[in-house]
Amino acid sequence: MPQDQSTAIIDLDVPGPRISRHVYGHFAEHLGRCIYDGFYVGEDADVPHVRGIRTDVVEALRALQIPNLRWPGGCFADDYHWRDGIGPRDQRPRMVNSHWGDVVEDNSFGTHEFMDLCELLGADAYISGNVGSGSVAEMSEWIEYLTRADDSPMAALRRENGRDEPWKVPFFGIGNEAWGCGGNLRVEQFASLARQYSTYVRNHGENTTYRIAAGASDADLHWTEVLMRSFDALDDPADADKPGDPFQAISLHYYTMTGPWQDKGSATEFSEDEWYLALQRAAFMERLLTRHGQVMDRYDPHRRIGLVVDEWGTWWNVEPGTNPGFLYQQNTLRDALVASVHFDAFHRHADRVVMTNIAQTVNVLQAMLLTDPETGALVRTPSYHVFAMNTPHHDADSLAVHLQGAPTRTTDGAELPLVSASASVSGDRATVSLTNLDAEAERTIVLDLRGREVTGHEGRVLTAPELATHNSPDAPDAVAPVALESVRPHERGLEVTLPAHSYATVSLTLA
Ligand code: AHR
Repeated sequence: MPQDQSTAIIDLDVPGPRISRHVYGHFAEHLGRCIYDGFYVGEDADVPHVRGIRTDVVEALRALQIPNLRWPGGCFADDYHWRDGIGPRDQRPRMVNSHWGDVVEDNSFGTHEFMDLCELLGADAYISGNVGSGSVAEMSEWIEYLTRADDSPMAALRRENGRDEPWKVPFFGIGNEAWGCGGNLRVEQFASLARQYSTYVRNHGENTTYRIAAGASDADLHWTEVLMRSFDALDDPADADKPGDPFQAISLHYYTMTGPWQDKGSATEFSEDEWYLALQRAAFMERLLTRHGQVMDRYDPHRRIGLVVDEWGTWWNVEPGTNPGFLYQQNTLRDALVASVHFDAFHRHADRVVMTNIAQTVNVLQAMLLTDPETGALVRTPSYHVFAMNTPHHDADSLAVHLQGAPTRTTDGAELPLVSASASVSGDRATVSLTNLDAEAERTIVLDLRGREVTGHEGRVLTAPELATHNSPDAPDAVAPVALESVRPHERGLEVTLPAHSYATVSLTLA
């Protein structure tokens, strides 16, 4: 086999676990310009909006088939008291957003505005509840307010505030980063609280809520282990249909950065070594999923309890001249490949990873969309395009990809494979995702396609001249997908040549 050629063997007729569309979930926190100025501009804004929600943002996210949106935090969630965000806007109490910029929050975007946003997006609501500074009663009343149909006290209050019908809330978070900003708790303490709080996040009427307990950071396996001890008899097959009391999933947070916390690295000014380092750190997600999954398997061999990676993505130093508390960063081709490498890992762990949420959707961290504070112009980032290219993976069955001959590069003391791949099948279409991590060299990959006849193919590729190329109002499509012409028939299936530093999808039509 020539040095620059790799092979990906895919059995198209051996579908694996389903990749939930919720793996492509999002996160919107009251942080910097994510909610205010990002999603929500208010009813008096010049920029086109529906009830204060930006129309172009909604359109862009609908094109991604955004499956769910997590709100109101993040760290903000454990300071948030939902009653402050209902009723007439001019009478809502103010608060200090102490985590993010120490700014005054006027609560003009609250429960009704968020649920309105979800309806406009066609996305499921993932509400993140306050354990750190809230109460059990407060959390219990929030889910009643949101989801109850009759004339209960909270349903009546919701009606007074203009909403007759209950909403659906399919996902509810029990705290956030309880080991840190969510209360600085020990896991033993939090595990007890999670059981208690979850009990009161009741299923009202037809609403069934999937409860997600705040999980570990990075490789804190002890946190996962102690939380998993919260469950009784998960190993008993007779209990397989029983809802996984007391909650249904635990979360995991992991961010990609190339430097230490105090100096995480620049989003746009980076060396080739830092390119590889970022991708190495992104590939570490695979290891985290394996290790947390092994701990979960010991208690839950039938994999009833989900792992929800409800914060992931790049975290760089803020753009020079912007508020350090607002976490506004640029987004380059490197961020796009960080995303594609994550998705390959999520696809491979589809039997455990039921949902993930990129941090965050607009104007914060690894955003899909950036808005210009002066002109209001909207830019789709390179990361946005990975999400767009991957929509065929939503709710498709994963396919194992056996990679042979992929080169590696020693980075940060470990071997980084320079090709990443995953695949899925849905009916008569299969989708293969291919990332060429090599900063300089193109790579040819033979797709050895077995088990089903392939009658057509179409490729798309995302790349750019420079590693740090990014989009801007002046050059909105500097990084945007185009047709991938270099897909050729091969005796074993197809042969694809990927440009250096690129992400591609090959869509296969199956007989
Ligand atoms: O996404 C930004 C912050 O990162 C979140 O508020 C917090 O949960 C995490 O530390």
